[in-house]
Amino acid sequence: MTLKDSFNRDINYVRIAVTDRCNLRCFYCMPEQGIVYEPKVHLLSYEEIIRLLTILGQLGFTKVRFTGGEPFLRNDFTQLIEKTAALNFFESIHITSNGTLIQNHIPLLKKLGITKLNLSLDTLNEERFKKITRRNDFSKVWETLHLLINENFRIKVNTVVMSGINTEDILPMAELALKYPINIRFIEEMPFNGGAKENHKIFSSKEIFSILKEQYPDLKVLSGKHGDTATEYTAVHFKGKIGIIPAFSRTFCTTCNRLRITANGEIKTCLYDGGVFSMRDFLRSGATDLEVKEKFIELVRLKPKDGFEAEKFTTKSIIRKESMSSIGG
Ligand code: GTP
Ligand code: 5AD
Ligand code: SF4
Repeated sequence: MTLKDSFNRDINYVRIAVTDRCNLRCFYCMPEQGIVYEPKVHLLSYEEIIRLLTILGQLGFTKVRFTGGEPFLRNDFTQLIEKTAALNFFESIHITSNGTLIQNHIPLLKKLGITKLNLSLDTLNEERFKKITRRNDFSKVWETLHLLINENFRIKVNTVVMSGINTEDILPMAELALKYPINIRFIEEMPFNGGAKENHKIFSSKEIFSILKEQYPDLKVLSGKHGDTATEYTAVHFKGKIGIIPAFSRTFCTTCNRLRITANGEIKTCLYDGGVFSMRDFLRSGATDLEVKEKFIELVRLKPKDGFEAEKFTTKSIIRKESMSSIGG
């Protein structure tokens, strides 16, 4: 059984932000001083996350992605992934991370069969890395990326492209996919930055594509999987792939298959809605598993057609105020 929304889309991919804390300060995500973190009691507990994942597994969800903030900052994150793997509901367990804290966990990830990691990396230039993330961790992330490649992890690198900041990194980043069997994905910047920026001048996926196409004229589009955010390409001699994610243009909504749970237990049926229901409060008010199940079914039915509709109908002003660190990306 798979849940369907009112547009006949199968909803079987849950993204759960396990913390709103982060050890970097990427300026497209949060202001320099950081965001006001939720008190720990407002975050979902280990037991609550496992309960929700069990119910979603019973509702036919087959893919789970742990995000944050930085998921590895959460003290019980390793126990969480161990328990999730033991639930045996999910065909695949994915993690999106900034790559600074993974190194010591590589043996555990391998043991659990968690081999699909998405890493954020917006530049290969150490100085620019410092400017973008406001931290000095380039060499750690770079080293980790190579360790993971050598250990045969399936890596997707997320590169947020920002006008006037790192557009000159597009080609050097793309070259990584020429050399290594990894997927480099260029993402349109979205205005979820915790109030860090007033202006949001988008460098569009079309502009990204034309830079890549000029350098690699034989760039060939690949047929994607249902629900993919990225349009993927390859070219002659490439070991890996290049992807472009029109996250702001929102051209992939017709095949959207996801549901989000934010760090404080809010359900988002679209990245661009303001949060539609506090599952945390519902659990804490004593809801039974059956009631939680019925609530998920009801919320999925109300999933908006696309990110534009979601944005139009949201009552909260989320754009710019909310940080990707609490939403979970
Ligand atoms: P795969 O499962 O590996 O395809 O990755 P993913 O794209 O689902 O997840 P990831 O966490 O790596 O996100 C990559 C980028 O896509 C981030 O900037 C996300 O915010 C963005 N993204 C993910 N899902 C959505 C979505 O439903 N809508 C929009 N607009 N952007 C999304
Ligand atoms: N716009 C687009 N992508 C973003 N991410 C974080 N903030 C933004 C933003 N404002 C991406 C990071 C991370 C993923 C979960 O979301 O690259 O890898
Ligand atoms: Fe941290 Fe990710 Fe936000 Fe950067 S984008 S500050 S790595 S949560």
